[in-house]
Amino acid sequence: MSKIIALAGKGGVGKTTVSALIVRQFAKNGVSPVLAVDADPNSNLGETLGLKVEKTVGDIREGYMKDPQQVPSGMDKINYLEMMINQGLIEEKDFDLLVMGRQEGQGCYCMVNNILNRFIEELEKSYKYLLVDNEAGMEHLSRRTSGRVDMLIMVTDYALRGLRAVKRIKEMLADLKLDVKEIGLVVNRAPEKLNQKFLEEVEEIGVPIICTIPEDNTLLDFDMERKSFMDLPDDSQSVLKIDELMQKIIKI
Ligand SMILES: Nc1ncnc2c1ncn2[C@@H]1O[C@H](COP(=O)(O)OP(=O)(O)O)[C@@H](O)[C@H]1O
Ligand SMILES: [Mg+2]
Repeated sequence: MSKIIALAGKGGVGKTTVSALIVRQFAKNGVSPVLAVDADPNSNLGETLGLKVEKTVGDIREGYMKDPQQVPSGMDKINYLEMMINQGLIEEKDFDLLVMGRQEGQGCYCMVNNILNRFIEELEKSYKYLLVDNEAGMEHLSRRTSGRVDMLIMVTDYALRGLRAVKRIKEMLADLKLDVKEIGLVVNRAPEKLNQKFLEEVEEIGVPIICTIPEDNTLLDFDMERKSFMDLPDDSQSVLKIDELMQKIIKI
């Protein structure tokens, strides 16, 4: 069975960055097969990994809803939709990427969603690790997958507001019907020594810090130049620290 790692946190704190860094380390360490899932409609995990995304699961769903007659004669709609998502799956040497894309519009999506959900659950089984980069609400995770999460990585920047979002998400977990086995906090853009007040707040929320990542100028340059984070040098600040997190991940 695959291990499911999910990332959550406020917008802009570094979820996609940390996701990309994890995919990079999996590749470096020869861990495969890995499926990266971009589950944030406004996200850009693909771009961060140096990929051009042509078609998202959302596009496939909307396309089908607009014209259900497009299914070729002699093919049933389940097989057709599965074939379409398979085409949307980007297969790289070191990992695969599935982009969920936009949320559904108006209308009855039950049938098509059921097919997509079942397909994604089936897909899960073929990978060693599934890495899900979520939007703040984690809608996709609760609605599109079995709801099992082996490790929930909460990401915050070095700010109390980021931490409050972590608190809210933690409180939301029960309502989302997610079965989270382990949970840890990554403090991104962190100074070497964390402020006492910040640490007290973390303690109160009750999610242990499993990794801190400093501000990384190389990463920032890569982002500006739209270069793939897969190509970050081994000795860049963020890459050096992500190994702490990988140690935790391989133990789940
Ligand atoms: N440790 C870091 N050092 C420098 N820049 C960073 C760092 N972490 C994230 N960033 C930058 O901050 C911005 C937001 O990060 P992103 O990962 O997209 O956040 P999120 O996915 O949570 O919305 C990006 O431009 C990213 O390059
Ligand atoms: Mg993001």
